Amino acid sequence: MKVIVVKDYNEMSNVATDIMYDVISNKPDCVLGLATGSTPEGLYANLVALYREGKLDFSKVSSVNLDEYYPLAPENDQSYRYFMNTHLFDHVNIDKANTYVPNGLAQDPEAACKAHEDKIDELGGMDIQVLGIGQNGHIGFNEPSDNPIPFTHMENLTESTIKANARFFESEADVPTRALTMGIQSIMKARKIIILASGKSKAAAIKATLKDEPTPRCPASLLYSHPDVTVICDEDAYSLC
Ligand code: F6R
Repeated sequence: MKVIVVKDYNEMSNVATDIMYDVISNKPDCVLGLATGSTPEGLYANLVALYREGKLDFSKVSSVNLDEYYPLAPENDQSYRYFMNTHLFDHVNIDKANTYVPNGLAQDPEAACKAHEDKIDELGGMDIQVLGIGQNGHIGFNEPSDNPIPFTHMENLTESTIKANARFFESEADVPTRALTMGIQSIMKARKIIILASGKSKAAAIKATLKDEPTPRCPASLLYSHPDVTVICDEDAYSLC
């Protein structure tokens, strides 16, 4: 894995923006693999600014998202569909029909997971996948486990993830306990992967990813075998390395 250590969150977002800018400019009909959460908010704000300045065109771009809470309606303001609309899709000229977030209200979640994985294949995989990282090393919602499920599937969220994400909800009890998520092998279908991390709360996960033996107990470390992964982290996130 390549590592870029920067000063702070803004620099992390700027480095990620430059990489995304190159991908979208060089391939106008590219497929973006997208993440939600606090980490990519700065990146998405930068992409919106570039679009407004006329420097980026999303009209032929498609996107697939990593994950979605289950069950949660797309209109719910905590859903990842809502996050993507409000942070990116509503502000650029992407055709929303070409944006794919797992269906958090699917009657048949197994079929919804298969449909998401099939869509990734139909699109030919992601040209770039953006990842945040959980405090426990999760990527997407692939939680630490001895037997990770390789492709898109339903995952039970751990206590640590529910606690970490409670800040977005009214109370911890409101955080859904399950999610639909791409698996590690789905993520590996991306030709290029960037992992973004900012802040001391991510330091243990970044150390486990970069310095320790790869293990499914730290899902991000399993990306070691992918040929094009760049970790962009700030000094706080790198502080235990
Ligand atoms: C979100 C996702 C998660 C987050 C991770 C970090 O789509 O897949 O893996 O990237 O939980 O979340 P933040 O960025 O809020 O610290």
